[in-house]
Amino acid sequence: MGVAFTPLHPLFAAEVTGIDLREPVNAEDVTAIDNAMATYGVLVFRSQDIDAEQHSAFTKNFGPLDAGLTLAIARKPRLENTDVIDLANFDESGEVLPVDNARTVSLIANQLWHSDSSFKNPPAKYSILCGIDLPAEGGETEFADERAAYDALPTKLKDRLETLVGEHWAFHSRNMLGGAGFSQDGMGNLPPVKWPMVHTIPESGRKSLYIGVHIHEIEGLGTAEARMLVADLIEHATQREFVYRHEWQNHDILMWDNRCTMHRGRPYDLSARRELRRCSTEVVFEQPEV
Ligand code: OGA
Ligand code: MN
Repeated sequence: MGVAFTPLHPLFAAEVTGIDLREPVNAEDVTAIDNAMATYGVLVFRSQDIDAEQHSAFTKNFGPLDAGLTLAIARKPRLENTDVIDLANFDESGEVLPVDNARTVSLIANQLWHSDSSFKNPPAKYSILCGIDLPAEGGETEFADERAAYDALPTKLKDRLETLVGEHWAFHSRNMLGGAGFSQDGMGNLPPVKWPMVHTIPESGRKSLYIGVHIHEIEGLGTAEARMLVADLIEHATQREFVYRHEWQNHDILMWDNRCTMHRGRPYDLSARRELRRCSTEVVFEQPEV
């Protein structure tokens, strides 16, 4: 039996069975997963106890790796394999980090609705998140389908959004939470980038919002007006009908398309250990024909 997909929600998200991610994935299954991503936007793999090497090898089937925020945060990696982004809330000795630690603030910022690396050029396409050790309570991850949310907008607002360009800045969410002690140099490595607020996903042909907490300005709008519009759009796009909520079991893997979904973590007891690892791919833009 080959790889199979079972929907988890009326609009998007599916569970994948018939695959073992400890082994190299054949070309046919990579294509099947890619096609399923175009349809479902979020895929869930259960009981996949993979290490960092297997995680990074699986991710590379889908494009070049995105380095995330590592450009701005200089720190000693806890994991040997630096392809994977360490999302554990503890240090090398297993000690849970203090709540005002810069790393903890970044982890808490993941509880705001966002698309990974939307503040970079190129931004992230797919993210693949492995749950290693999850708290018994809280710490779920939620996803919002920005294609369905776009489809449900009134025509007048769709027309307005067609021309709007959002400016995404990595440090806006951290500043909202009181700052996370990034150096000017670190922040200088990641200046804001601009993306249309509505785009078409090439593989599905579907239009999608491209919004989230990283937008701090919108071209041609005042700051307050821009932030209010982003807040209203996030509120619209995250109505319960557009949201899939994932309750973690250890060794679950979540894979999502950042171009057409937003996600956020849910709160958990910050004194309890929570260990996840993520790899993401970069968007590869099609070159215009010359
Ligand atoms: C991420 C992320 C949310 C969570 O890994 O990109 O935002 O629940 N995670 O930890
Ligand atoms: Mn994220």
